[in-house]
Amino acid sequence: MCGIVGYVGTQDAAPIVLHGLRQLEYRGYDSAGLAVIDRAGQVQVRREAGKLINLEQAIAAEPVYGAIGVGHTRWATHGPPSRRNAHPHSSPDGELVVVQNGIVENFMELRRMLQAEGYVFQSDTDTEVIVHLIHHHLHNGSAGDLEVAVREALAELQGPSAIVVLSRRHPDRLITARLGNAGGVTVGYGDGEMYIASDIPAILRHTRRLAFLESRQMAVVTADGVRFTDLKGEPIWKEVVAIDWNPMAAEKGEYRHFMQKEIFEQGRSLTDTLRSRLDFAESVVTLPSLGLTPQQVRELTKVTIVACGTSYYAGLVGKYYLERLARIPVEVDYASEFRYRQPIVESTHLVLAITQSGETVDTLATLEEARAHGAYTAAIVNAIGSQAARVTDGHIYMQAGPEIGVASSKAFTASITDLYLLGLYLGQERGVLDVELRTALIRELSSLPGLAGELLEEAWRSGRYRQLAERFYTYHNFLYLGRGINYPIAREGALKLKEISYIHAEGYPAGEMKHGPIALIDASMPTVVVAPHDSVYDKMLSQVEQVKARNGVVLAVAHADDPVMAQKADFVLPVPRTSELLAPILAVIPLQIFAYEMAVRRGADVDQPRNLAKSVTVEKGGRDKETGRQGDRETRRQGDRETKRGASRSYGL
Ligand code: AGP
Repeated sequence: MCGIVGYVGTQDAAPIVLHGLRQLEYRGYDSAGLAVIDRAGQVQVRREAGKLINLEQAIAAEPVYGAIGVGHTRWATHGPPSRRNAHPHSSPDGELVVVQNGIVENFMELRRMLQAEGYVFQSDTDTEVIVHLIHHHLHNGSAGDLEVAVREALAELQGPSAIVVLSRRHPDRLITARLGNAGGVTVGYGDGEMYIASDIPAILRHTRRLAFLESRQMAVVTADGVRFTDLKGEPIWKEVVAIDWNPMAAEKGEYRHFMQKEIFEQGRSLTDTLRSRLDFAESVVTLPSLGLTPQQVRELTKVTIVACGTSYYAGLVGKYYLERLARIPVEVDYASEFRYRQPIVESTHLVLAITQSGETVDTLATLEEARAHGAYTAAIVNAIGSQAARVTDGHIYMQAGPEIGVASSKAFTASITDLYLLGLYLGQERGVLDVELRTALIRELSSLPGLAGELLEEAWRSGRYRQLAERFYTYHNFLYLGRGINYPIAREGALKLKEISYIHAEGYPAGEMKHGPIALIDASMPTVVVAPHDSVYDKMLSQVEQVKARNGVVLAVAHADDPVMAQKADFVLPVPRTSELLAPILAVIPLQIFAYEMAVRRGADVDQPRNLAKSVTVEKGGRDKETGRQGDRETRRQGDRETKRGASRSYGL
């Protein structure tokens, strides 16, 4: 996952930047680079593919000395990992360099426009578009004002980005900006020196006084301080927050709980999930760690998805993707059920586990069982190096980053996105999706992090969910309804509410309402409907009417510009418009925030809900393999230990 570290002050920038990048290594990356303005006023760039040690060796061989610099660890989106694709990227005359986290959705158009202007591209990246665009504006229209040129360039970018710009003409300043939710920008205050980082741990050694950029904000950072503006250049005031030295607590940054942080970083986790899997130029999806040969893909006759809890609901969405995009029959089962029902497993089946921890005992046992029957096994897994990744024939890492809150949020949206990528990949390899269709689907997919960012910004700004929690926190029961591809989202929304706020909630397929649950409806049982504009929208509308006819209260996950739903539902939880297949990835986010705010309002322990563990390493009622102790009693303690151990093992926290 990309990381950014910047420094301006009186010390040598390179060691400080490299140390910061080291702190972000655990997030994963494939290349690294750094730019420093040297004592002669020249911008020196060093970049290397592979581990940071390669960059360090390159710098040792050819040192760079200067008191201002910026570094980057890259996780490829556009173009393979290589020195030429590593950041920073430079303008043709070497005047400017830029590092970026995020995706420029319209980079093809911008690249073509800049090429027509005479810019020659040295890399395959979308970031190079940004540096040329700033350069273009600097020399055409901004009257040579770098800040104005940066703002003009940002106005042309679509999609989420966090950038840092360094210019030879302004050797005293770093300009940083954030568009959308591709990752944070933190400004750290020192004494006569200042820092920039995508993630707090990178600069925690030097400062604990921090300010955080919101979307569409910019900062001009010099050794003496920082000036914040919006993207029109209007000054803005920012609170400086004192952060705990404890690295774990510091990770939380501006958020009250890890779960809140994890919900609000979904713009970034979705960007990271797409990274390196999409070749935008060729419209091809690559999943090398899945390990299936083209022949195995063609010969697949069935996919069986096995998982537990939230991951199981991701699997239910995945069924739609794989069947729709790759035309393969898919069965989804709870791992805890599958292993005991003597399932039919054959060598042409792919048994696919979904697990954020990679340590869930039922899921692991199922994989073992499937392997014994000769199936190809694979896992979509978040925790790097976990058992699920080790015991399977192939895997797809979610790239959601560490998820500390017990209730899963960003791992859920990452796993659904991975299932979508898997559907595209299998469809492409089986010849079901032609290049034209793939191009359209990939383009749509690349807009997802930006849309999630928009949704999250609105939620943060509006205070809507705190108000809803104030209104509903005393209720004891909720019904969640969804249909088609959003039915699993209703179940996941209900699970989130249950597990962190301890309110009873049921997730139901909307069409089943009349077969029983409708009897429950009255003013004391609110109904949450997941109703984006899709092929079953009219049916969802009629559910809303039925609930209203029985004095029920309706909260609708719907589009902000849907006047019909606005009129019929009591409250709208807005989601941006996207395609029907991608809608669930956005639709779940309001339900996560709602559950979170309800739990906070009820004073619950959001990150460590009672009776739950992050990794369920014992079977309910069974015995722990390591200790031989009884499972039910031991699950939480074991889970706590596993959470900490898993976090330190997998992510170095
Ligand atoms: C999610 O919020 C829950 N904590 C739980 O349902 C979880 O998804 C389930 O235990 C499966 O865990 P896994 O993804 O790590 O296998």
